[in-house]
Amino acid sequence: MFRASVLTLFPEMFPGPLGTSLAGRALGEAWQLELFQIRDFATGKHRQVDDTPAGGGPGMVMKADVLARAIDAAAPEGDPRPRFYMSPRGRPLTQERVRDLAAGPGAIILCGRFEGVDERLIEARGLEEVSIGDYVLSGGELAAMVLVDAVVRLLPGVMGHDQSGTEESFEAGLLEYPQYTRPQVFEDREIPAILTSGDHAKVAKWRRAEAERITRERRPDLWAKLKGE
Ligand code: ADE
Repeated sequence: MFRASVLTLFPEMFPGPLGTSLAGRALGEAWQLELFQIRDFATGKHRQVDDTPAGGGPGMVMKADVLARAIDAAAPEGDPRPRFYMSPRGRPLTQERVRDLAAGPGAIILCGRFEGVDERLIEARGLEEVSIGDYVLSGGELAAMVLVDAVVRLLPGVMGHDQSGTEESFEAGLLEYPQYTRPQVFEDREIPAILTSGDHAKVAKWRRAEAERITRERRPDLWAKLKGE
């Protein structure tokens, strides 16, 4: 069973969308979610989890000692699961990384708030910084949900038919071809005739060509990679 342990100041945000649909149905079956309230690991009367940045500047930085205790509680020494810190500064999450996580025992996921976390914590606990895109969220929680959702749908038994996991765009390095369904005519627009011709070879060829065209137009970066740079 894939075990996701999430460390956050807002555990009430979970499971959130992960409790519905595909991921929700599989929760407790194919995967497990454990939540850790970071504040539970703070000490003192004020249970302070953050402090002002060394060197000055705006915002607050999450404290290394508090986070270390939280991580050690979530993942005792010897826990084989990779540890992530969700951050716009991280390496971009890819379908390849997602696939490899889905084949493993789970993940420890630290969600940050404020201006970030003490760099020494990242080093000392071997956290892998992961970004879900070039934009800044108000915290790592939504990013953690994105990561978990992408993994969970690949777990055995979670997706309806097994092909949908591997036949799709990113797995082949291409974006998806266009899809259509009834009615045959919608506001004067017809379903491309090839798709209703019954000629499976022609359909496959058309879809491949469309996937390539869309990838070339929208994602020249993916296209270049596919063509061998
Ligand atoms: N936290 C805030 N923004 C983020 C992003 N883009 N990716 C991952 N974690 C984040």
